[in-house]
Parts: sequence; C-alpha cells; structure tokens
Amino acid sequence: KGKTKTVWVCSDCGYDDGQWWGICKQCNGINTMKRFSEGVERPVSGFEVSENVTRSWLPHQSVRAMPTKLTDVNKGINQSNWRIPLSGLFGAEVGRVLGGGLVPGCLVLVGGDPGVGKSTLLLQIAAIVAEGCDMGGPAPVLYVSGEESVEQIGNRADRMRIGTDEIFLYASTDIEDILEKAQTLSLRALVIDSIQTVYLRGVTGSAGGLSQVKECTEALLRFAKKTNIPVFLIGHVTKSGEIAGPRVLEHIVDVVLYMEGEKYSSHRLLRSVKNRFGCTDELGVFEMSQSGLQAVSNPSEMFLSEQQSDSEFLAGLAFTVIMDGSRAFLIEIQALCVAGSSVSRQVNGVQAGRAEMIISVLIKQAGLKLQENGVFLNVVSGVHLSETAGDLAVAAAICSSFLEFPLPMGIAFIGEIGLGGEIRTVPRMDKRINTVAKLGYKKCIIPKSAKTSLSSLDLGDTEIVACRNLKEMINIVF
Ligand code: TYD
Ligand code: MG
Repeated sequence: KGKTKTVWVCSDCGYDDGQWWGICKQCNGINTMKRFSEGVERPVSGFEVSENVTRSWLPHQSVRAMPTKLTDVNKGINQSNWRIPLSGLFGAEVGRVLGGGLVPGCLVLVGGDPGVGKSTLLLQIAAIVAEGCDMGGPAPVLYVSGEESVEQIGNRADRMRIGTDEIFLYASTDIEDILEKAQTLSLRALVIDSIQTVYLRGVTGSAGGLSQVKECTEALLRFAKKTNIPVFLIGHVTKSGEIAGPRVLEHIVDVVLYMEGEKYSSHRLLRSVKNRFGCTDELGVFEMSQSGLQAVSNPSEMFLSEQQSDSEFLAGLAFTVIMDGSRAFLIEIQALCVAGSSVSRQVNGVQAGRAEMIISVLIKQAGLKLQENGVFLNVVSGVHLSETAGDLAVAAAICSSFLEFPLPMGIAFIGEIGLGGEIRTVPRMDKRINTVAKLGYKKCIIPKSAKTSLSSLDLGDTEIVACRNLKEMINIVF
C-alpha cells in the first residue's frame, strides 16, 4: 500500500502498458504514451468509464440479474411489436436488409465510403420511420449531424421532397448533449451522422479516435437498450485502414450494414454483414436519383445491357445467373474470338486462370480450334464473375463467337465446367432457374445432375435442357 503503480496510457487509442515505449504498441502513435498513476488521474481507456462521466445512459451499475426461464422471456415479447415495419417500396427494401423491419432498441451501424450516400439513405429512413404509415401515425425521429449544418440537411431534405413534420434536426457532436436532448423528445428513432464526429467528455483522444469511437458507441448502445429506441450510426470506412474505422465497432453493435456503389454507376447496394435479429444473407438494391435513393424494382436484370431486338443479336453473347446474398442476378458475358491475330487472351470480369481453363477444355474436350485465336472476354456492366456457375455461359459465349453463330434470344446457361468437359451442378440451382423462368426466358441450359431436384419448380414456359458435358451442350445449342 502507499506505493502507486505507474502506467503509461496512449492518449490516442487508450492502450496502456506498464512500461514506457517510444511509440504506442497498439496504434503506433508517436509520443502519445502519457504517464499516469494507477487509480489517481488515469484517464478512461478501452472500455472502462471513469466515475466522473457516469450518466444515466452510462450506467456501470452492478445489477443482480437472475437467470430467467426461456418461456417467461418469450411471454414478455409481444410478437406484433417485435419489429417495426417500414412502409413503401423503399421501406420494404431497407426492411428486408434489416431482416424484416426495425427491432426496437437495436443499434445499427451503416458503413460505407465517403460520398456513397449514407446520409441520404438515413435521412430517407428517418422520414419513413417518422411518417410511420405502418406504425400507427407519425412520431418524432431525431437526425443528429456532426458533419453538416441543420440548413444543409434541410436543403437536402427539400431536394428529396421530404417534408415530414416529425423529423428533428440537430447539429451537435457532444454525445451527452445529444442523448439529453433525445430523451426529452420521446423518439421513435435516433440517427447519428457520424460516429467519427461525436465525442464523450472525459474520454481521452480526439473524436474519431479509437477510444472515443468505442466509448460513444457503448454509450449509444446503453441508450438504445435502456429506452428501446432504435439507433442508427453512420460510419466512414477509409481505405488507409484507419484505426478507428467502423470495423472495430462491429462487435459492439447489433446490426452492421455496408453500403456499396460503383463509382460510375448510380446503383447502390446495401448489404447486411452482421445481424443479431436476422440472417445476413440479404442485399438491398437502390438507385441514386435526383430525389434520393429509390428501390430498384427488378434488380435481377439491372446488370444486363440494353435489350437488342432479335434481328441484331450478336454472336459471342451468353447469359448466366449469379447469386449475391439471397438474390439472383442475370449477367451478360461477351466473347470475341479473332482468328489469325496475335494469340492473346484478354479477360475482364472473369478470373484469368478460370478463363484459360475453360478455353483449354473447349480445345481439348470439345474439339474447338481455338489455338490460333485471340480470345477476349468481358462481363457487361463491370460485374466480377466470381462463381463457377458462370463457366458454361463463358464457354457458350466463346463458342458463339468462334462459330459466328448468334445464340437465340432468351437462353441462359448455368453450370460449372470440369477439366473433362463435364458440366457440374452449382449451389442454389432452384433459385437461379426460378429467376430465369420469372424473367420469361425460353430456355435454360443446366447440368444433367441438377435436373432431378427441380420437379417442384413452377417454370412457366421455360424449357429446361440438361446436358452432361460440353459436347452435348454444343450439339444441342449450336
Ligand atoms: P451523401 O448521402 O452525402 O453521402 P455520404 O453521407 O455517404 O458521404 O451523398 C453523396 C452523393 O449522393 C452526393 O455526391 C450527391 C448524391 N446525391 C444524389 O445524387 N441525389 C440526391 O438526392 C442526394 C441527396 C445526393
Ligand atoms: Mg454524409
């Protein structure tokens, strides 16, 4: 007793060590290790919260909890209140990604690159939650921004034609202040834009630093659980692997959604990567328009190029179905075989090794004289084909170009190709074929081994053609 222990604490990330080092061993910060005496003036580090920042939403109380019977727990849950439904086309798309609606008291992190449309998305979610068509009328939603002024958000809302009475805007970065205001409003939901801009008094490090980000998220989590108000958090992801990127928060929050978009495309994908209340196999598809994000009504077809009319259908085109999450997308593969030119192989959107393999199999097992041909492959719309399910379509596109035989309209290919030229089944065959049938395709070429499992599908007018190997496929189609 009497002798106080000395610790060194990093003022940026909160890492502590009994020994002084020139740099912080956790965040590699230089000259950030500050000396403190244990228990005296040591700042908050990691997950601890010191006495002087304890507030009602920062309880560090030791509640004596008792184990509860499962059936008692379930009795307490009112099934109809379990999820807040989101109305409209846009709401349905967001709701699907959330696993069927918004769960009261959940903490949702929405991550994504700067400029991808996170603020836009959350403002729209705030609007439909506030309007509450499926929730018994309007209720307040608070949108807090540490990045933009209230006027800027107002301007954006105006452009998006959001005029809900019940949206409250607040520009602040002080979590205590934010949560105090939030408590007075009896909110239906709270949005924080973004977690990198807010701070908690009494916690070391600047806003956006690891300990601030962690502490603020924990405070928001306790707020959400205590009040049952769902909280949305926006988090930026930086390519440089910044230490306080939202990835460190993924274990704290209930739901993690990532928003993605191609730079030159107006499509935005919302993907759930963690969900304590539902499956993570979901994908929302939106389009960024003049007036905000719109749900894409027929996403299966969004990667296809403009439909050609029957007569001008080109040789070297073939369609296949890829899966992303639980969704099926039709994609278009183009091949160009050039005889006599340099025997170069250029591929775009297809793995080079896979393409090389398919070409070799076509030469060896199907007798195609591709040796003296330059072969170019391309997947339309910049999609990357990462599934072997596209093998058969790649082969068909090459055959089509090589034989200068345009494939007829409305034919899709699904299947993996083996080294012996055999066509193999791939996962989720039923879902893929269903998509093809729903879009009114006339024919779907599939592996023979997959045919037995499809008896229960409603295929409409789509004819299923099962093939054992490449030769058979070529004989049937060409
Ligand atoms: P924003 O939501 O601010 O992105 P983030 O919060 O992820 O940084 O939106 C970014 C882009 O979206 C911006 O470049 C402009 C575009 N945008 C539209 O095309 N239409 C719209 O209605 C809005 C509000 C934004
Ligand atoms: Mg923003």
